[in-house]
Amino acid sequence: MVATGSGTQSGKAFYVTTPIYYVNDAPHLGHAYTTVAGDVLTRWHRQRGERVWFLTGTDEHGQKVLRTAESKGVSPQEWCDKLVEEAWKPLWRHLEIANDDFLRTTEKRHTDRVREFVQDLYDKGEIYKGGYEGPYCVGCEEYKLPGELLEGTGENAGKQLCPIHKRPVEILKEENYFFRLSEYADKLLAHYEANPGFIQPEPARNEVLSFVRQGLQDLSISRSTFDWGVPVPWDDEHVIYVWVDALLNYATAVGYNQNQETFDATFPADVHLIGKDILRFHAVIWPALLMANGLPLPGRVVANGWLLVGGEKMSKSNLTGISPRQITSHFGVDAFRWYLLRAIAYGQDGSFSWEDLAARYTSELANDYGNLASRVAAMVGKYFDGVLPAASADGDAERAVHDGLAKAVAEADRKIGDDVEFQAGLQAIFDFVKQVNGYISEQEPWKVAKDDSPQARARLATVLYTAAESLRAVAVLLHPFMPASSQRLWESLGAEPALGPLAGQRVQEAGQWGRLPAGSTVTKGAALFPRLEEQPGA
Ligand code: MSP
Repeated sequence: MVATGSGTQSGKAFYVTTPIYYVNDAPHLGHAYTTVAGDVLTRWHRQRGERVWFLTGTDEHGQKVLRTAESKGVSPQEWCDKLVEEAWKPLWRHLEIANDDFLRTTEKRHTDRVREFVQDLYDKGEIYKGGYEGPYCVGCEEYKLPGELLEGTGENAGKQLCPIHKRPVEILKEENYFFRLSEYADKLLAHYEANPGFIQPEPARNEVLSFVRQGLQDLSISRSTFDWGVPVPWDDEHVIYVWVDALLNYATAVGYNQNQETFDATFPADVHLIGKDILRFHAVIWPALLMANGLPLPGRVVANGWLLVGGEKMSKSNLTGISPRQITSHFGVDAFRWYLLRAIAYGQDGSFSWEDLAARYTSELANDYGNLASRVAAMVGKYFDGVLPAASADGDAERAVHDGLAKAVAEADRKIGDDVEFQAGLQAIFDFVKQVNGYISEQEPWKVAKDDSPQARARLATVLYTAAESLRAVAVLLHPFMPASSQRLWESLGAEPALGPLAGQRVQEAGQWGRLPAGSTVTKGAALFPRLEEQPGA
């Protein structure tokens, strides 16, 4: 689970976070989506040679988790311990998530620091006591504005529903502590203005802008009707509101008030990856809390869209949660990691579909990519006894491949590394794979092989070297998405030990032509992506 940053060890780390997930149930596809995105983004930056820190974790306090535990007849702590150890952490290991840390909000390293942060705000006069009555959604753990609610129908007729969970809200009336959020509207707007890339994508930014422009209400930051939470330091009748507790994980996990050196070398996050359902917490409340405490603001908040099932957000409470293991047992972990980022533009909603997954798997992974790898290895085996020949007769066709690679690397690096647009980055990489397939079809090495003349042998060597060298680069570019198959391809190209371990390869160097040494031993291993009918359980 632990990965270390590579490259320069000085300066601030590139710090990426996922939301910390509620442990009211086992993870489903929607949770895995954001986590895989975070893993790919951090692996990409590691391959750029940057020092990287990738944080994920679990959000364990609050009414939502408490009620689930009560319904199961166990204490909330027991419930969380079991789920985290038996469901969440094992799934991330299974999906090859290389997080550097996993924070649980019930850990002392977190709760102590949360109390200190809130005490600090209190001492600064940012918190006061007041009363509030309003509609509350336990699913969101949030007071709703009356204008946002939906009118219930059927069994919920006459009730008002949360627009996300489609469940009746509860009217809560409490005497609470409040954070002076209303005073931050102008400062937030100034920040959005000065940093147009702060909220991504554009529709998410627009939503936040229009929300904040209407003015902000102060935020209730404590609860007194239940006690599953971090006690308010100056009043233990109250626990800290679960969202304030949760947001602070991004600071407490990296040394806030504990290890200044680590904190300065990591905080703030460069990218907070979140789902669009929790945008306001990250783009409004979180920066306001940081401003209030004089801490630096994150670089970017990047919201992914919803995975939909039947047009609704996939969720366990709607009984539409799909377990990632259902997918990996059939298609493998690599295809799982690749598919959602390939099929859906990051930031937009998308429907999960088994048919689409099967079709893309077959056409792009098994046919375009996997077949290319096995054909090239087979031909080097057949025509050169598995020893990669040198290219000695580069012509226009080869130069077009070299240019195609350089273009693919630059485009993928910009789209994935800079813009957090995975789909466009993958498009560039797979366009290159298509180009190499086209090159082989045109060059017809199997025909060239029929001629024994020295010119024909040189031509054959050049075509096969060009294809193998292209695959070397593709293995590097796809490694953040599909670590296991890239590794197998790398080994089959015989690049190791001549080129060193795949994990140490730099994105920037992927496009430098000629890095795969002639003389490497090329072996044809098992198919990178077996045909679906050949997979167990098909
Ligand atoms: N605990 C809060 C987050 C606190 S962060 C300081 C929370 N947890 S959650 O378990 O509900 O998970 C939220 C995240 O899971 C979403 O923001 C999103 O990233 C991911 N997703 C959950 N369901 C999803 C979909 N159906 N589609 C896409 N992403 C989804 O909110």
